[in-house]
Amino acid sequence: MIQPLRIATPEGERGLATTAAPLPLDALVPGSGAWEVEIGFGKGRYLLRRCREEPGGRFLGIELASEYWGMFVERARRHRLSNWIALRGDALALLASTVPRGFAAAVHVYFPDPWPKSRHHKRRLFDPETVDLVLSLLAPGGRLLFATDFLEYGALVQEILESYPGLEVTRRDRPWDDGARTNYEAKYLVEGRPILRLEVTRTPGAAPLHPRGARGVLAAV
Ligand SMILES: C[S@@+](CC[C@H](N)C(=O)[O-])C[C@H]1O[C@@H](n2cnc3c(N)ncnc32)[C@H](O)[C@@H]1O
Repeated sequence: MIQPLRIATPEGERGLATTAAPLPLDALVPGSGAWEVEIGFGKGRYLLRRCREEPGGRFLGIELASEYWGMFVERARRHRLSNWIALRGDALALLASTVPRGFAAAVHVYFPDPWPKSRHHKRRLFDPETVDLVLSLLAPGGRLLFATDFLEYGALVQEILESYPGLEVTRRDRPWDDGARTNYEAKYLVEGRPILRLEVTRTPGAAPLHPRGARGVLAAV
């Protein structure tokens, strides 16, 4: 069942229309701290950790699954965290409609669903048709952090990002310095499953424009 879009903040929650004006992020979480975004945050382990360890930072999470979204919201409230926004819904729909562009110092995407069947590739967050929507979140100099255990998809994501102007892409050859970030990563590390991690920086001053992206979804023209 498709759930309606929803937004939760420390102040409360409400429904959200895809036709709404861009979210006034700075009004929703006042302050001057840098914004970070996590897409598909699952049970929220990393997002909660970041909210707690950087009380001056501001965090926007996007999650499709109601149960996980609700779990994060409940925990963030229980810990009296005041620096977060949680959106429930399809990230691509939200990025194409209500999420502003060019504001994030960091975007985190860990173990996104790989959608292995080719007819489902358009649902991927990182596909030539959709990559602009994710990258357009980044402020100049902003960083994208990505990990997957689906190595074939990871290699494709790396190729897509390397063909994108204005990005520096590095494949990390070791775990993150701060250890396992998410539940999936913790589980796969214990299992010894190979993980492909990418660190990407949007070069300051470069205008992002994917050479192969469909004009209909291009976020940067
Ligand atoms: C494999 S899980 C990984 C969860 C978490 N990132 C981790 O590493 O533990 C993928 C997550 O992405 C969410 N997801 C899948 N498609 C999504 C979409 N289109 N928009 C937002 N979240 C999505 C799923 O609900 C799920 O929580």
